Amino acid sequence: MSAPIKVAVTGAAGQIGYALLFRIASGAMFGPNQPVILHLLEVPAEKPQQALTGVAMELDDCAFPLLKGIVTTGDARVAFGDANWCLLVGAKPRGPGMERADLLKDNGRIFIEQGRIIDEVAAADARVAVVGNPANTNAMIAASQAKRLTPDRFTAMVRLDQNRAQTQLAKKAGAETTAVKDIFIYGNHSPTMFPAYAHATIGGQPAAGVINDEAWLQGPFLDTVGKRGAAIIAARGASSAASAANALVDHVRSLVTPGEVHSVAVKSEGHYGFDPNVWAGLPVRTTTPGSYEVVTGYAMDDFAQSRIALTNKELVDERAMVADML
Ligand code: NAD
Ligand code: LMR
Repeated sequence: MSAPIKVAVTGAAGQIGYALLFRIASGAMFGPNQPVILHLLEVPAEKPQQALTGVAMELDDCAFPLLKGIVTTGDARVAFGDANWCLLVGAKPRGPGMERADLLKDNGRIFIEQGRIIDEVAAADARVAVVGNPANTNAMIAASQAKRLTPDRFTAMVRLDQNRAQTQLAKKAGAETTAVKDIFIYGNHSPTMFPAYAHATIGGQPAAGVINDEAWLQGPFLDTVGKRGAAIIAARGASSAASAANALVDHVRSLVTPGEVHSVAVKSEGHYGFDPNVWAGLPVRTTTPGSYEVVTGYAMDDFAQSRIALTNKELVDERAMVADML
């Protein structure tokens, strides 16, 4: 058994928090041999702090063997102090009729402060995963505050989009989700995202050949994946929570598992024609636990290039909207 790691989770009494914490404590995120100490942050008001106390009580009541401690706090310095992983979930969700970018002005500020504090007090090996929307640009804002931690430490989640795309391809092909491989998300966690279906396989064969319906791949498939968040809000009256928590478990689990290739929003460094200074969904290969390299060399046809240009433009526009926060 390794020494416990400290995992900070913000928005810990929120919807995603409630679906996430029990999975971290059970070992789903860091594996069955990695004990954890949870540092749970909520806004310092009485009601959320009380709700957080209740969540901690429920965690206690699970008697998880890997859970070695719980800290509940309204103080970001306490939450991020010596944290090895900082999972930034706490932020406003959008409501019906809104785009995620509409949250920028309100949510962006959270990430200025949290990025700065993480840089000051988190562990030397700290990794940050941003879920709060708009996730890509919030990760950029947090990273822009850091002087000690390098930009590669700040990732944003597009794994929910990868999982959604995987299931849509499997359903269309009448295959198991496990038969679908190599479907990666490029760009923004927004309707402009591009799931690059041309590189996916189903049962070892090119997905486009198995599905044999280019119009569906370029139309309903992209639309369904890109607008799935809004469809869930319309159906449920609240934004996705359990599937988002599950995707964060996958995001981190893949990032601590060398050899995994998966979709993560990272500083683009210019790969695939993205502006070098935006956080874009890209395929990455985990090299050592917590570290990764972008997988380059996937060929992009004219359609793919035009979709990447579109989502890149949106990321560049979002960056301009928050120029005063960087
Ligand atoms: P929620 O409103 O249920 O919970 C958010 C919690 O964060 C609340 O309890 C709130 O008090 C807390 N919070 C707000 N500001 C905080 C701060 N500065 N520090 C600590 N806690 C703070 O919302 P939710 O459904 O859990 O969603 C959280 C965020 O995740 C939203 O922005 C949502 O849009 C986003 N999201 C992203 C994805 C993705 O794929 N990237 C998927 C689903 C949801
Ligand atoms: C999602 O994709 O489900 C989340 O980003 C929530 C949202 O606002 O769509």
